[in-house]
Amino acid sequence: MNKIVIAIDGHSSCGKSTMAKELAKQIGYTYIDSGAMYRTVALYCIQKGLFVGNKLNLDALKQQMNAIHTTFIPNPTTGKSDTYLNGKNVESEIRSMAVAEKVSQVAAVGFVREALVRQQQALGTEKGIVMDGRDIGTVVFPDAELKIFVTASPEIRTQRRLEELIAKNEPTSFEAVLHNLTERDRIDSTRKDGPLKQASDAIVLDNSNLTIAEQNQQMLALFQSKMG
Ligand code: DC
Repeated sequence: MNKIVIAIDGHSSCGKSTMAKELAKQIGYTYIDSGAMYRTVALYCIQKGLFVGNKLNLDALKQQMNAIHTTFIPNPTTGKSDTYLNGKNVESEIRSMAVAEKVSQVAAVGFVREALVRQQQALGTEKGIVMDGRDIGTVVFPDAELKIFVTASPEIRTQRRLEELIAKNEPTSFEAVLHNLTERDRIDSTRKDGPLKQASDAIVLDNSNLTIAEQNQQMLALFQSKMG
């Protein structure tokens, strides 16, 4: 059977990646986390001192854009792929609050989006992929055969993210995480290039009151009904 492209977009920390990863595993597709690509660019900017306070040195970033290489390499211990920045495993670092606080600013830069969208499209030429992000169904793969827009209430998203950070021993508070999520959604939805937006042909999945098993089941059902 011909393989398709599955685009999963939605708000920050609504469980898109968990759902996308599980669906890809079940149907034998490749999962690609486009947010990780924006996170590695943000981490690179932090590491290279391209942020002075809150201000990003765009000229320097533009010059160095070609020196930023993100790769995904399977980790045999976890059975999942880890994200590498120029050959170094940064899977944990890119999920830190320090990166979360800067990533939306980096993701709003036109030339960053252009470069990453090109890389993402190249990853999908053979189809058989599940990619999650903010603009996958609208910009990266506007012709994706299946588009799902995931959402959940801000409070539920905050609670889930808080639990992840606590498990990683990153001290923070409900208020700080809620502020970070809503601020990221605001920046992501209002930027000029590739804003977070539901594609007109996307199916909405609100997982506020779903268990992980239930949401996985719904994703699989959507895929099966698409494939007939
Ligand atoms: O999905 P995530 O939280 O890991 O994404 C990190 C940031 O990257 C998020 O604030 C928005 C941005 N992003 C984007 O602008 N476009 C994408 N396709 C994926 C993520």
